[in-house]
Amino acid sequence: MRQTAPQTRDSSRDRFAAGKPLWARAIATPALEFAPTALPVLQGQIPEALRGTLYRNGPGRLQRQQQRVAHWFDGDGGILAVHFAADGATAQYRYVQTPAWQAEAAADRFLYSGYGQLAPGPLWRRWTAQPKNAANTSVLALPDKILALWEGGHPYALDPVSLATKGLDDLSGLSPQQPYSAHPKRDPQTGNIYNFGMIFGKEVHLQLYRSSPSGQIEQQATIPLPRASLVHDFVLAGPYLVFVVPPLSLQVLPLLLGFKSLSDALRWQPELGSQIILVDRDSLEVVSRFETDPWFQWHFANGYLDETGAIVLDYVRYPDFKTNQWLQEVVSGQPHTPAKGTLWQLRLDPQTSQILAHEQRLPLSCEFPVVSPLELGQAPQALYLIHQAQPEAPIAEMFNCISRVEQASGKLTTAQFATGCYPMEAIYAPRPDQPGQGWLLTVVFDGHQDQSTVQIFAAEQLDAGPLCVLALPEVIPLGFHGTWQAAIDSDRS
Ligand SMILES: [Fe+2]
Repeated sequence: MRQTAPQTRDSSRDRFAAGKPLWARAIATPALEFAPTALPVLQGQIPEALRGTLYRNGPGRLQRQQQRVAHWFDGDGGILAVHFAADGATAQYRYVQTPAWQAEAAADRFLYSGYGQLAPGPLWRRWTAQPKNAANTSVLALPDKILALWEGGHPYALDPVSLATKGLDDLSGLSPQQPYSAHPKRDPQTGNIYNFGMIFGKEVHLQLYRSSPSGQIEQQATIPLPRASLVHDFVLAGPYLVFVVPPLSLQVLPLLLGFKSLSDALRWQPELGSQIILVDRDSLEVVSRFETDPWFQWHFANGYLDETGAIVLDYVRYPDFKTNQWLQEVVSGQPHTPAKGTLWQLRLDPQTSQILAHEQRLPLSCEFPVVSPLELGQAPQALYLIHQAQPEAPIAEMFNCISRVEQASGKLTTAQFATGCYPMEAIYAPRPDQPGQGWLLTVVFDGHQDQSTVQIFAAEQLDAGPLCVLALPEVIPLGFHGTWQAAIDSDRS
């Protein structure tokens, strides 16, 4: 493990972040790995019944030597694990040690193409080399392993305790060409896990997977798509799986010739409209598909059937694909392309494929919408997201609030962080002692102190402030998704 001296790191951070928003300090230098470390409590106390492990994934390394990655999605995945036990909380951080990561670490430079990255050197290398699996997007916790997910390939299996990388995992069913996306959905009733992979090629299609609770793939189906697009997430809504295919098209030739990355080869074509595909989740067969207004989404909060039988989807809607440009610019620490996503709700009739209602629920720029994992696919009590405090926030700024949005009333309850403090995706941990209640766990970066903390909130009382704040030993770069794995009963002591 090669580490940089703290003083050198601080001056590199100062140099990179000068004149930029304070969050840039969190991505200025690569994350440092750390071994299991007891976390000091800075404020409050850890809730007695909170037992288990928070796993988070995100691009921990955006730079080698003086070379920055081309897109935030191309950073090397690093896993933060925070374990809560009777004697307190411990945390560790390790990179997912893929062969590509190891080769680049040995060379101390980037060697591979990625989502937005083009492999350096002669063009022929781009024709022959596989893109790097960045393993940086989310974590799926299974009984005997965790999976670091990346939507362009197979997941990497890691030891859930040591975070040691075991290798690519095919879930006993993925062929080498079948990717496994980073937003699997676990049915809270059966424990079955649904997911998909987007397969580019002569015939573009979505490959659907249903796995047993242990992760083993037991059922697959193929859904042809009219064109290549970017489908990042999907919805479990009662008896349906819902996919929304944004109006993107792929410039195939520049991609194949290595002139453009996948990110740069995707073209926004609003005239195509978004395509909604309803799938029966038992048979995995298409029930209906239809075109509607154009928009782009990365993430859905949830979906369900309401009392009338309509499908309700809550999601973060962008007017176009400029959000991809904004995310690319994050690497610089100062994005400048306007790209505001807001919370929307779509109601549609699955029998007639008619849109019944489609409206904005919240005018604030937001992302990472979640619900309790126990409410996935059903009407939730509330959803949770991170967002800007004001509707007109600076383009370069990151989110500074976490809110609970009551599903029925729309009532908003907010925890706003101090200026220069940035929460990541809030992860819901159901309370084992109080059914229907839970905690929200987030990692917050304080750009004034160069300090990351784990913060625990009562999900129903965000405005009361954190129940507990724990200091992490190193800065955790802003990241993407994670999961909560509750301790099994024998571990609770
Ligand atoms: Fe995502």
